[in-house]
Amino acid sequence: MEEVVQKEEKRSWKTESSSLKKASKPLRISEINQDNEQRLDTQNLEFNRVLGGGLVPGSLTLLGGEPGIGKSTLLLQIALRLPYKTLYVSGEESQKQIKMRADRIQPDSKECYILTETKTQNIFQQITQVEPDLVIIDSIQTLHTDYIDSAAGSISQIRESTAELIKFAKESHTPVILVGHITKDGTIAGPKILEHMVDTVLQFEGDRNYVYRILRSLKNRFGSTAELGIYEMQGSGLREVNNPSEILISKNEEDLSGTAIAATIEGMRPLLIEIQALVSSAVYGTPQRSATGFNVKRLNMLLAVLEKRAGFRLGAKDVFLNITGGITVDDPAIDLAVMASILSSNSDIPIEKGVCFAAEVGLAGEVRPVQRVDQRILEAEKLGFTEIYVSKNNKIGLKNTSIQVRRFSKIEDVVTGLFG
Ligand code: TYD
Ligand code: MG
Repeated sequence: MEEVVQKEEKRSWKTESSSLKKASKPLRISEINQDNEQRLDTQNLEFNRVLGGGLVPGSLTLLGGEPGIGKSTLLLQIALRLPYKTLYVSGEESQKQIKMRADRIQPDSKECYILTETKTQNIFQQITQVEPDLVIIDSIQTLHTDYIDSAAGSISQIRESTAELIKFAKESHTPVILVGHITKDGTIAGPKILEHMVDTVLQFEGDRNYVYRILRSLKNRFGSTAELGIYEMQGSGLREVNNPSEILISKNEEDLSGTAIAATIEGMRPLLIEIQALVSSAVYGTPQRSATGFNVKRLNMLLAVLEKRAGFRLGAKDVFLNITGGITVDDPAIDLAVMASILSSNSDIPIEKGVCFAAEVGLAGEVRPVQRVDQRILEAEKLGFTEIYVSKNNKIGLKNTSIQVRRFSKIEDVVTGLFG
């Protein structure tokens, strides 16, 4: 246990001690007026979407992510485009370094202030001067407060600095965004309590080998956590990717065996993704099964179903599965595309262009219905697909689609449908 020495009982973000506020009174639920709080538009569609429609006044948002993933770039970019007064506080980089980064990103906002500072009391002093509409702190681990004696980055410093920022945010109705570092095991460095204290926890992630970055929300007091934002890291900052299906499907001219397209849904957004499988005879004794972006246990289950229900001898084969673009999907509706890609690689017959899949597959080999199938069909149609394989039991509300909807109840029938 860390020893905490608290120097003073009463602390405040304001230099002059604020007077005791009146204690709040209970209200009848019907009396609570709900006229939608005016959210701060970050002018970044993907960021707004993940937040659930912009920043809520007085809220604390924590943005976590591995070093080098682009947290500082993303937030500086937002600060530079906002028509509001923004204070970007960095404890990691000098004002010159930040200016250099800003020159790469451009749109220069006249309202973006940069401060290099780590002591919370000094930060609040500057805030009182500048009166920003948004405060960005990069990062929470560099802050220290006078009220605690331990080193910056220690658990009690992080907790205390965050508490002061929360108090500031709530009293001034200013939204605050904190950057949080991530440790090797993927958790935000510092106390777990940090995640409990803030209103929203966002995570910025991506495969270093890909230029795509994904922003997700792990906790959101003001919206859904199912939304996803996609960016592409370019030489001039992060580009918002508003139509991710386009980037997630490779544009190969010739037909390749072992690839299949799944119509998935992330959050509210339909997304077409490409699945690649490689099935080959196992060279060394035990066959290997590996999957990137997909659960290996589920892969093994689907292989067992193919073996038992459709008579494919895959037991002695190596099976590698990959979801392109470096994204991870846990939507069960991609089962059928996973199986189709495996079958296609196994027989070395490409799946016809224009075909995609949206169905879950059960242990008995039954092709099962998925949620929001209409939305998936529409997205596939929009992207020029001509056929979509779904479950016979899926209720479809759409009429007059140009895409052909093919309905199946058993995996055996899908095999016949695909390869004759
Ligand atoms: P950075 O925002 O510093 O990451 P974090 O704050 O999460 O540690 O971004 C790091 C990487 O992004 C760095 O390797 C350089 C690259 N980058 C670009 O590719 N384009 C750009 O416009 C900028 C500013 C950075
Ligand atoms: Mg950084």
